Parts: sequence; C-alpha cells; structure tokens
Amino acid sequence: MAADSIGNAKEEIFRSVEDAVEMRRIGAECAIVETRYSTAEDLSDIVNRVPLVFPRHVTNVVAEFDPSDSGLADVADAVDSAIREQHRSPEVSLQVWQSGKTVYEFNRREAWDEAARVLGDRGFQVSRTGAEYAVSVCYTPKTAVVGFNRVADSLSSWPGGEVRLSRPPEQVSRAEFKLEELFKEYDLPFGDGGTALDYGAAPGGWTRILAERGFRTTAVDPGDLDPTVLKRPDVVHERTTAGNYLRSSDRRFDLIVNDMKMSPDRSSQLMIDSIPLLKRHGMGIVTLKTGSRGVLAQLDASFAILRRGFTIEFARQLRHNRNEVTAVLRSLD
Ligand SMILES: C[S@@+](CC[C@H](N)C(=O)[O-])C[C@H]1O[C@@H](n2cnc3c(N)ncnc32)[C@H](O)[C@@H]1O
Repeated sequence: MAADSIGNAKEEIFRSVEDAVEMRRIGAECAIVETRYSTAEDLSDIVNRVPLVFPRHVTNVVAEFDPSDSGLADVADAVDSAIREQHRSPEVSLQVWQSGKTVYEFNRREAWDEAARVLGDRGFQVSRTGAEYAVSVCYTPKTAVVGFNRVADSLSSWPGGEVRLSRPPEQVSRAEFKLEELFKEYDLPFGDGGTALDYGAAPGGWTRILAERGFRTTAVDPGDLDPTVLKRPDVVHERTTAGNYLRSSDRRFDLIVNDMKMSPDRSSQLMIDSIPLLKRHGMGIVTLKTGSRGVLAQLDASFAILRRGFTIEFARQLRHNRNEVTAVLRSLD
C-alpha cells in the first residue's frame, strides 16, 4: 500500500477480514497482518470481491529476520528454507524489493543474485517473473520478511506491487501512467478496437493511450488537447463540458473514462448518468479523487452510487494514483 494510506488500509482490512488480529507496520509501504486462519489467497479474494482499494500486494509470510545481523548467505538460507518444505515444482519466481531506505551492506540486486544462486544449486529454475509460485523478500529499515505463495494470489505480479513504467517520448501527461498501470494490472475485455469517450481529456494523455490500444476516442474537455493527440485520425475533440456532451449526444460507446478533478460522489453520479451513452454491458473507468481526509467514507458513498448501475470489477489505489482511487466498472444492463 502507499505510505500515506497505511491507516486507511488498516481500517479497511479490519472492517472486512473477520479473523484479523493485528496489523503491524514494518516499513514505509509494508505491514504484516496477523490473522487466525486467513491466508494470502483468502485476503486477495476479499480484496478483489469487497473490494479493498489499498492493498497492492499480498504474500504469506514464512520467515522474518533482522538483516543487519545477517549477511547475504542468511538471506539466501531464509529463502531456501521458506520453500524447502512446501514447494515441489522446479520453477519459482524470486522477487526482492525494498520498502524505505537501504540500510544494509548489500543491495537488492546482490540479495536477488545470492538467493537465486542458492536456489539454483538446489535444482530450482529461478526467474524474475512468469512462474506459478513466487518467493518474495521485502527489506525494510527494521526487518526483512520472506513470503511464499501463488502469484495469482498476490494481487500483482510485480514485486511488492511496485509497477515500474518508463516515460515514453510521446507521453503528453503524467496522468498516462495511471491508465497504463491499470492496463498492466487489469485486462480490459476488448481486443483491438472499440469506441471510447474520455471525459476531462485535456491535454490528452488518456486519449493517446486509448487510441494506441485501438479505440476510436471522443475527447471531451473545454481545454486544449496536445497537437500530437489532436491530429490523430482516431481522435475527435469535443470542446465542451461532460454535462453538455452528455445532454446533447446520442452516440453509444464501449468504454467511458473519467479522470476529471471532481468530488468522488459527483464523478460517480456522472458515470451513472452516462449509462445511456454506453453499449450493453459497456465499461467505465473512473478516477475517484478523494484527497486525504475522510477517504473511506467518500469511497463508501461513491461505491454505493456506482452500484446503482454498475458492478465494480476492480478498484484500487494504484502506484501512480496520489490521493485517488481507480475503479473499473461494468454496466448492469
Ligand atoms: C487531471 S486532468 C485530465 C488529464 C487527462 N486524463 C490526461 O491524461 O491528460 C482533468 C481535466 O478535466 C477537465 N475538466 C474539469 N471539469 C470538467 C467538466 N465538467 N467537463 C469536462 N472536462 C472537465 C479539466 O479541463 C482538465 O483538463
């Protein structure tokens, strides 16, 4: 979870995970949740179903140790014993990440190399990604934990849920990262093609990403689009407000996205009011801009509004969201 969302994450988890006993912060973006019987699999099911928006990555903790007392060999030993008993497949992904500053003599690359060497000597085929199971090591300035579970139960296949994206030269806004990250974590059920409506599109980052994915995109914003986006043949700019467009259009879209700076309840109501512009079981993506106060209450109210017309397929505070949450919606009709 994000460092400044730990309090919200704790409240969310204790509301929904009945057997949660304690949540102990161990690093800037990491906490250990002690439960009576729930595993990472149960937790990721709850996170996806309820949904809980703050957890980005979960794993079953199988060892915790103090890395300042230990060298690299101890790290590798801990990883080795973590999977010795439980893992029968020769393939395993190894994920090493850090939460907070480095305070140890070795860095994460050296820790990865040494643990991979030890596992390799024992006959494992070790990869960074792609295996069904992952063993993970999270270092914090206080401690290190080793986790082991199926990648499918981790919420994210990225180490610690830290999706890393590089900035392409054609990027027109940093907001693009939010949509790109979403598409890495959630597969939209469209192949190449379809039609999209982008509310609050300027300067055109989301429009560009959607067009790159094959959507013919209508970009609605009173503000200017970047000329590189405007000149695309698959983009039309409607220089007006979302409300005006909604009242005047009789078109139907496969997807409506909304990244406007607006209170979460108003943004949610706009998505509901836009359902007549969606094709049957069409989809929506909305950024709920909560700010930092009363976040859970705002999300509860917004989700209640959205559920009048949509199922919420995915809702999460992405790594590239700041004080906001991204939700993916599917229209009920
Ligand atoms: C955060 S920016 C969107 C960035 C965009 N998603 C991108 O990737 O480049 C929010 C935009 O919403 C627009 N906006 C605010 N209220 C609006 C409204 N009622 N109708 C349409 N656009 C609106 C603003 O003009 C602004 O350009």
